[in-house]
Amino acid sequence: MSFPIDRPRRLRRTDALRRLVRETRLDPSDFVQPLFVVPGAGIKNEITSLPGQFHWSVDRIAEAARRCYSAGVPAVILFGIPSQKDELGCAAYDDHAEVQMAIRAIKREVPDLLVMTDVCLCEYTSHGHCGAICDGDVDNDKTLELLAKTAVSHAKAGADIVAPSDMMDGRIAAIRRALDSEGFEHVTILSYAAKYASAFYGPFRIAVDSAPQFGDRRGYQMDPANAEEALREVELDLQEGADMVMVKPGIAYLDILQSVKQRFQRVTSAYHVSGEYAMIEAAAARGWVDRKRLVLESLLAFKRAGADFVLTYYAMEAAEWLNEEKYR
Ligand code: PBG
Repeated sequence: MSFPIDRPRRLRRTDALRRLVRETRLDPSDFVQPLFVVPGAGIKNEITSLPGQFHWSVDRIAEAARRCYSAGVPAVILFGIPSQKDELGCAAYDDHAEVQMAIRAIKREVPDLLVMTDVCLCEYTSHGHCGAICDGDVDNDKTLELLAKTAVSHAKAGADIVAPSDMMDGRIAAIRRALDSEGFEHVTILSYAAKYASAFYGPFRIAVDSAPQFGDRRGYQMDPANAEEALREVELDLQEGADMVMVKPGIAYLDILQSVKQRFQRVTSAYHVSGEYAMIEAAAARGWVDRKRLVLESLLAFKRAGADFVLTYYAMEAAEWLNEEKYR
Protein backbone atom coordinates (compact mmCIF):
# COMPACT_ATOMS: atom_id res chain seq x y z
CA MET A 1 0.00 0.00 0.00
CA SER A 2 1.47 3.31 -0.98
CA PHE A 3 -0.95 6.10 -1.92
CA PRO A 4 -2.75 7.61 0.00
CA ILE A 5 -0.22 6.91 2.81
CA ASP A 6 2.75 7.93 0.71
CA ARG A 7 2.44 11.39 -0.74
CA PRO A 8 5.84 12.54 -2.07
CA ARG A 9 4.32 15.96 -2.75
CA ARG A 10 4.26 16.58 1.04
CA LEU A 11 7.97 17.30 0.85
CA ARG A 12 7.59 19.76 -2.02
CA ARG A 13 5.11 22.15 -0.45
CA THR A 14 7.22 25.15 0.46
CA ASP A 15 10.56 26.59 -0.35
CA ALA A 16 11.86 25.92 3.18
CA LEU A 17 10.79 22.28 2.98
CA ARG A 18 12.33 21.84 -0.45
CA ARG A 19 15.56 23.33 0.85
CA LEU A 20 15.53 21.07 3.89
CA VAL A 21 15.33 17.88 1.86
CA ARG A 22 17.53 18.92 -1.06
CA GLU A 23 20.16 16.28 -1.91
CA THR A 24 22.53 18.35 -4.03
CA ARG A 25 23.69 21.94 -3.65
CA LEU A 26 25.73 24.30 -5.75
CA ASP A 27 28.44 26.44 -4.26
CA PRO A 28 30.94 28.89 -5.80
CA SER A 29 33.70 26.45 -4.84
CA ASP A 30 32.28 23.95 -7.34
CA PHE A 31 33.48 25.92 -10.34
CA VAL A 32 36.57 26.62 -12.42
CA GLN A 33 36.50 29.58 -14.82
CA PRO A 34 38.26 29.25 -18.20
CA LEU A 35 40.12 32.40 -19.31
CA PHE A 36 41.69 33.16 -22.71
CA VAL A 37 44.92 35.09 -22.95
CA VAL A 38 46.05 36.81 -26.16
CA PRO A 39 49.14 38.81 -27.23
CA GLY A 40 49.05 42.59 -27.00
CA ALA A 41 48.15 45.17 -24.37
CA GLY A 42 44.97 46.72 -23.02
CA ILE A 43 42.81 44.01 -24.59
CA LYS A 44 39.42 42.81 -23.37
CA ASN A 45 37.61 41.69 -26.52
CA GLU A 46 34.40 39.72 -26.54
CA ILE A 47 34.75 36.33 -28.26
CA THR A 48 32.22 36.10 -31.12
CA SER A 49 31.58 32.38 -30.71
CA LEU A 50 31.36 32.67 -26.90
CA PRO A 51 29.34 35.84 -26.21
CA GLY A 52 30.01 37.08 -22.68
CA GLN A 53 33.54 35.55 -22.66
CA PHE A 54 36.64 37.58 -23.49
CA HIS A 55 40.12 37.51 -24.94
CA TRP A 56 42.35 39.17 -22.34
CA SER A 57 45.86 40.52 -22.72
CA VAL A 58 48.36 39.73 -19.96
CA ASP A 59 48.18 43.23 -18.47
CA ARG A 60 44.40 42.95 -17.96
CA ILE A 61 43.77 39.29 -17.18
CA ALA A 62 44.12 39.79 -13.42
CA GLU A 63 40.87 41.82 -13.56
CA ALA A 64 38.99 38.69 -14.52
CA ALA A 65 40.94 36.59 -12.05
CA ARG A 66 40.16 38.98 -9.20
CA ARG A 67 36.45 38.94 -9.98
CA CYS A 68 36.49 35.12 -9.85
CA TYR A 69 38.33 35.15 -6.56
CA SER A 70 35.97 37.70 -5.03
CA ALA A 71 32.98 35.57 -6.01
CA GLY A 72 34.52 32.55 -4.26
CA VAL A 73 35.55 30.65 -7.40
CA PRO A 74 38.69 28.76 -6.29
CA ALA A 75 40.42 28.34 -9.66
CA VAL A 76 40.78 29.55 -13.22
CA ILE A 77 42.09 27.56 -16.20
CA LEU A 78 44.17 29.41 -18.76
CA PHE A 79 44.18 28.94 -22.53
CA GLY A 80 46.63 30.81 -24.73
CA ILE A 81 46.47 32.20 -28.22
CA PRO A 82 50.07 32.74 -29.39
CA SER A 83 51.29 35.45 -31.75
CA GLN A 84 53.05 32.79 -33.86
CA LYS A 85 52.01 29.21 -34.60
CA ASP A 86 54.50 26.67 -35.98
CA GLU A 87 54.87 22.95 -36.75
CA LEU A 88 55.98 22.01 -33.24
CA GLY A 89 53.92 24.50 -31.22
CA CYS A 90 57.02 26.19 -29.74
CA ALA A 91 55.02 28.96 -28.05
CA ALA A 92 53.42 26.34 -25.79
CA TYR A 93 56.70 25.76 -23.93
CA ASP A 94 58.22 29.23 -24.26
CA ASP A 95 58.78 30.59 -20.73
CA HIS A 96 57.97 34.09 -21.95
CA ALA A 97 54.78 33.31 -23.89
CA GLU A 98 51.32 34.65 -23.04
CA VAL A 99 50.13 31.86 -20.74
CA GLN A 100 53.36 31.84 -18.76
CA MET A 101 53.18 35.63 -18.33
CA ALA A 102 49.50 35.44 -17.41
CA ILE A 103 50.25 32.87 -14.71
CA ARG A 104 52.84 35.22 -13.19
CA ALA A 105 50.48 38.19 -13.41
CA ILE A 106 47.61 36.37 -11.71
CA LYS A 107 49.85 34.86 -9.03
CA ARG A 108 51.23 38.33 -8.29
CA GLU A 109 47.84 40.08 -8.15
CA VAL A 110 45.57 37.35 -6.75
CA PRO A 111 47.97 34.94 -5.01
CA ASP A 112 45.32 32.75 -3.36
CA LEU A 113 43.46 31.95 -6.55
CA LEU A 114 44.49 28.57 -7.97
CA VAL A 115 45.91 28.80 -11.45
CA MET A 116 45.32 25.80 -13.65
CA THR A 117 46.66 25.55 -17.19
CA ASP A 118 45.51 23.59 -20.20
CA VAL A 119 48.51 21.60 -21.45
CA CYS A 120 48.10 20.93 -25.17
CA LEU A 121 49.67 21.93 -28.46
CA CYS A 122 46.65 22.53 -30.72
CA GLU A 123 46.44 26.26 -29.95
CA TYR A 124 50.13 26.58 -30.85
CA THR A 125 50.62 24.37 -33.91
CA SER A 126 50.20 25.70 -37.47
CA HIS A 127 48.33 22.48 -38.43
CA GLY A 128 46.01 22.67 -35.41
CA HIS A 129 46.68 19.14 -34.16
CA CYS A 130 47.44 18.36 -30.52
CA GLY A 131 50.98 17.08 -31.18
CA ALA A 132 53.92 16.78 -33.53
CA ILE A 133 53.11 15.48 -37.01
CA CYS A 134 55.08 12.61 -38.56
CA ASP A 135 53.99 11.10 -41.90
CA GLY A 136 50.59 12.79 -41.72
CA ASP A 137 49.76 11.52 -38.23
CA VAL A 138 50.29 12.82 -34.69
CA ASP A 139 53.42 11.13 -33.33
CA ASN A 140 52.53 10.03 -29.82
CA ASP A 141 55.95 9.58 -28.24
CA LYS A 142 57.54 12.65 -29.77
CA THR A 143 54.58 14.69 -28.51
CA LEU A 144 55.11 13.47 -24.93
CA GLU A 145 58.40 15.37 -24.71
CA LEU A 146 56.77 18.59 -25.86
CA LEU A 147 53.86 18.21 -23.46
CA ALA A 148 56.24 17.56 -20.57
CA LYS A 149 58.22 20.68 -21.48
CA THR A 150 54.98 22.69 -21.59
CA ALA A 151 53.89 21.46 -18.17
CA VAL A 152 57.30 22.26 -16.66
CA SER A 153 57.24 25.72 -18.21
CA HIS A 154 53.80 26.37 -16.66
CA ALA A 155 54.99 25.07 -13.29
CA LYS A 156 58.05 27.33 -13.42
CA ALA A 157 55.77 30.31 -14.00
CA GLY A 158 53.79 29.34 -10.90
CA ALA A 159 50.90 27.14 -12.08
CA ASP A 160 49.30 25.14 -9.26
CA ILE A 161 47.60 22.56 -11.46
CA VAL A 162 48.43 21.39 -14.98
CA ALA A 163 45.67 19.86 -17.07
CA PRO A 164 46.80 17.87 -20.11
CA SER A 165 44.03 17.79 -22.74
CA ASP A 166 45.86 16.21 -25.68
CA MET A 167 44.84 12.53 -25.19
CA MET A 168 48.27 11.09 -26.08
CA ASP A 169 49.06 7.72 -24.48
CA GLY A 170 51.48 7.89 -21.56
CA ARG A 171 51.33 11.64 -21.13
CA ILE A 172 50.49 11.65 -17.43
CA ALA A 173 53.56 9.55 -16.59
CA ALA A 174 55.77 11.70 -18.84
CA ILE A 175 54.50 14.93 -17.27
CA ARG A 176 54.75 13.59 -13.69
CA ARG A 177 58.32 12.45 -14.28
CA ALA A 178 59.35 15.78 -15.81
CA LEU A 179 57.70 17.83 -13.05
CA ASP A 180 59.29 15.74 -10.30
CA SER A 181 62.75 15.88 -11.83
CA GLU A 182 62.53 19.69 -11.94
CA GLY A 183 61.47 19.95 -8.30
CA PHE A 184 57.73 20.42 -8.88
CA GLU A 185 56.48 17.39 -6.90
CA HIS A 186 53.74 19.58 -5.43
CA VAL A 187 52.25 20.60 -8.78
CA THR A 188 48.98 18.77 -9.29
CA ILE A 189 47.89 16.97 -12.47
CA LEU A 190 44.26 17.15 -13.55
CA SER A 191 43.96 14.75 -16.45
CA TYR A 192 41.42 15.25 -19.23
CA ALA A 193 41.18 11.47 -18.92
CA ALA A 194 38.02 10.71 -20.87
CA LYS A 195 37.94 13.31 -23.59
CA TYR A 196 35.74 12.56 -26.56
CA ALA A 197 36.14 13.64 -30.20
CA SER A 198 33.19 16.00 -30.00
CA ALA A 199 31.36 18.55 -32.13
CA PHE A 200 30.68 20.42 -28.87
CA TYR A 201 34.17 22.03 -29.04
CA GLY A 202 33.27 24.13 -32.11
CA PRO A 203 33.02 27.59 -30.46
CA PHE A 204 36.27 27.01 -28.53
CA ARG A 205 38.16 26.18 -31.71
CA ILE A 206 36.90 29.41 -33.27
CA ALA A 207 37.95 31.30 -30.12
CA VAL A 208 41.54 30.00 -30.23
CA ASP A 209 41.76 29.30 -33.96
CA SER A 210 42.73 25.66 -33.38
CA ALA A 211 40.61 23.70 -35.86
CA PRO A 212 42.80 20.99 -37.46
CA GLN A 213 43.99 22.09 -40.91
CA PHE A 214 43.68 18.50 -42.20
CA GLY A 215 41.84 15.46 -40.87
CA ASP A 216 40.27 15.52 -37.41
CA ARG A 217 41.02 14.46 -33.85
CA ARG A 218 39.43 11.00 -33.94
CA GLY A 219 42.85 9.34 -33.98
CA TYR A 220 43.50 10.49 -30.41
CA GLN A 221 40.27 11.72 -28.79
CA MET A 222 37.71 9.06 -27.85
CA ASP A 223 34.84 7.70 -29.90
CA PRO A 224 31.53 9.05 -28.45
CA ALA A 225 30.12 5.53 -28.76
CA ASN A 226 32.45 4.10 -26.09
CA ALA A 227 31.82 3.97 -22.35
CA GLU A 228 33.97 1.03 -21.18
CA GLU A 229 36.95 2.61 -22.88
CA ALA A 230 36.50 5.69 -20.70
CA LEU A 231 37.01 3.59 -17.58
CA ARG A 232 40.17 2.16 -19.12
CA GLU A 233 41.47 5.65 -19.93
CA VAL A 234 40.78 6.86 -16.41
CA GLU A 235 42.39 3.79 -14.87
CA LEU A 236 45.57 4.28 -16.92
CA ASP A 237 45.81 7.97 -16.03
CA LEU A 238 45.37 7.24 -12.33
CA GLN A 239 48.04 4.53 -12.52
CA GLU A 240 50.34 7.02 -14.23
CA GLY A 241 49.89 9.52 -11.42
CA ALA A 242 46.92 11.76 -12.21
CA ASP A 243 45.72 13.44 -9.01
CA MET A 244 42.30 14.28 -10.44
CA VAL A 245 40.47 13.25 -13.59
CA MET A 246 38.00 14.90 -15.92
CA VAL A 247 35.24 13.82 -18.29
CA LYS A 248 34.59 16.02 -21.32
CA PRO A 249 32.20 17.20 -22.78
CA GLY A 250 29.57 17.57 -20.08
CA ILE A 251 25.83 17.10 -20.20
CA ALA A 252 25.87 14.56 -23.04
CA TYR A 253 28.38 12.45 -21.07
CA LEU A 254 26.87 12.38 -17.58
CA ASP A 255 26.63 8.59 -17.79
CA ILE A 256 30.43 8.46 -18.16
CA LEU A 257 30.93 10.94 -15.32
CA GLN A 258 28.73 8.91 -12.99
CA SER A 259 30.42 5.60 -13.73
CA VAL A 260 33.92 7.09 -13.41
CA LYS A 261 33.06 8.56 -10.00
CA GLN A 262 31.41 5.36 -8.78
CA ARG A 263 34.15 3.06 -10.04
CA PHE A 264 37.25 4.92 -8.86
CA GLN A 265 36.02 7.22 -6.08
CA ARG A 266 38.68 9.75 -6.94
CA VAL A 267 38.43 13.51 -7.49
CA THR A 268 36.39 13.71 -10.68
CA SER A 269 35.52 16.82 -12.65
CA ALA A 270 33.56 17.60 -15.77
CA TYR A 271 33.97 20.21 -18.49
CA HIS A 272 30.79 22.05 -19.46
CA VAL A 273 32.23 22.91 -22.87
CA SER A 274 31.95 25.76 -25.32
CA GLY A 275 29.24 24.18 -27.49
CA GLU A 276 27.04 23.67 -24.46
CA TYR A 277 27.56 27.30 -23.45
CA ALA A 278 26.87 28.49 -27.00
CA MET A 279 23.64 26.48 -27.20
CA ILE A 280 22.31 28.00 -23.98
CA GLU A 281 23.35 31.51 -25.02
CA ALA A 282 21.79 31.17 -28.48
CA ALA A 283 18.47 29.92 -27.14
CA ALA A 284 18.43 32.51 -24.36
CA ALA A 285 19.14 35.33 -26.82
CA ARG A 286 15.96 34.32 -28.67
CA GLY A 287 13.96 34.27 -25.47
CA TRP A 288 13.28 30.56 -25.81
CA VAL A 289 14.64 29.54 -22.40
CA ASP A 290 15.07 31.08 -18.95
CA ARG A 291 18.85 31.57 -19.07
CA LYS A 292 19.65 31.63 -15.36
CA ARG A 293 17.47 28.65 -14.51
CA LEU A 294 18.86 26.65 -17.40
CA VAL A 295 22.46 27.40 -16.38
CA LEU A 296 21.94 26.49 -12.72
CA GLU A 297 19.98 23.36 -13.62
CA SER A 298 22.80 22.25 -15.94
CA LEU A 299 25.45 22.86 -13.29
CA LEU A 300 23.39 21.02 -10.68
CA ALA A 301 23.14 18.01 -13.02
CA PHE A 302 26.94 17.68 -12.98
CA LYS A 303 27.01 17.57 -9.22
CA ARG A 304 24.12 15.14 -9.00
CA ALA A 305 25.98 12.83 -11.39
CA GLY A 306 29.00 12.90 -9.08
CA ALA A 307 31.27 15.75 -10.19
CA ASP A 308 33.49 17.22 -7.48
CA PHE A 309 33.87 20.36 -9.59
CA VAL A 310 32.93 21.70 -13.00
CA LEU A 311 34.94 23.69 -15.51
CA THR A 312 32.39 26.09 -16.95
CA TYR A 313 32.23 29.41 -18.77
CA TYR A 314 29.46 30.28 -16.29
CA ALA A 315 31.71 29.89 -13.22
CA MET A 316 32.02 33.55 -12.30
CA GLU A 317 28.44 34.48 -13.07
CA ALA A 318 26.92 31.42 -11.39
CA ALA A 319 29.05 32.05 -8.29
CA GLU A 320 27.78 35.63 -8.14
CA TRP A 321 24.16 34.45 -8.46
CA LEU A 322 24.67 31.92 -5.66
CA ASN A 323 26.21 34.56 -3.40
CA GLU A 324 23.23 36.88 -3.94
CA GLU A 325 20.77 34.12 -3.09
CA LYS A 326 22.66 32.70 -0.17
CA TYR A 327 20.30 33.52 2.65
CA ARG A 328 17.06 33.58 0.73
C1 PBG B 1 42.65 21.62 -26.31
C2 PBG B 1 41.31 21.81 -25.74
C3 PBG B 1 40.07 21.87 -26.38
C4 PBG B 1 39.13 22.18 -25.39
C5 PBG B 1 39.81 22.25 -24.19
N1 PBG B 1 41.15 22.01 -24.42
C6 PBG B 1 39.71 21.77 -27.81
C7 PBG B 1 39.84 20.50 -28.56
O1 PBG B 1 40.20 19.46 -28.04
O2 PBG B 1 39.63 20.59 -29.78
C8 PBG B 1 37.67 22.40 -25.63
C9 PBG B 1 37.01 23.30 -24.63
C10 PBG B 1 35.64 23.75 -25.02
O3 PBG B 1 35.07 23.36 -26.07
O4 PBG B 1 35.08 24.53 -24.24
N2 PBG B 1 42.90 20.39 -26.87
